[in-house]
Amino acid sequence: MKIAVASDHAGFEMKDFIAKTLSQKKIDVLDLGTSDCSSVDYPTFADKMAQCILAHQADLGILVCGTGIGISIRANRHKGIRAALLYSDEVAKMAKQHNNANVIVFGGRTMDKNDVLRRIDIFLNTQFEGGRHQRRIDLLDL
Ligand code: RB5
Repeated sequence: MKIAVASDHAGFEMKDFIAKTLSQKKIDVLDLGTSDCSSVDYPTFADKMAQCILAHQADLGILVCGTGIGISIRANRHKGIRAALLYSDEVAKMAKQHNNANVIVFGGRTMDKNDVLRRIDIFLNTQFEGGRHQRRIDLLDL
């Protein structure tokens, strides 16, 4: 599995931590930036991620900004992107089971690193239920 990661400056440290941890677990990581803590604009990195996922260059995207909110809003303006802000373990499970999110999002300034890693694990180890949820997902992109 290949996972793409991207963040703005406020999410850089968390994004870097996630990327290193996934690489240690032998997961193929594609880092779309940003590359340091210099101030940048989060919509730019949401756009890079959307293009990457829609072009099937990665199986899943992980986005991080300060709160996870701005970068989620922008990512979800791209048709075909289902970006979910994983603010709890239960939400991490439901984002896969019901929404089949193709981008998961975290707050670099609002979330604990261990919580983030645990939610990534929960998401990756949960199956999409399909059925009525697939019908609803199809309705998202009309
Ligand atoms: C950047 O200062 C901050 O506004 C951004 O990372 C994010 O939290 C926006 O939603």
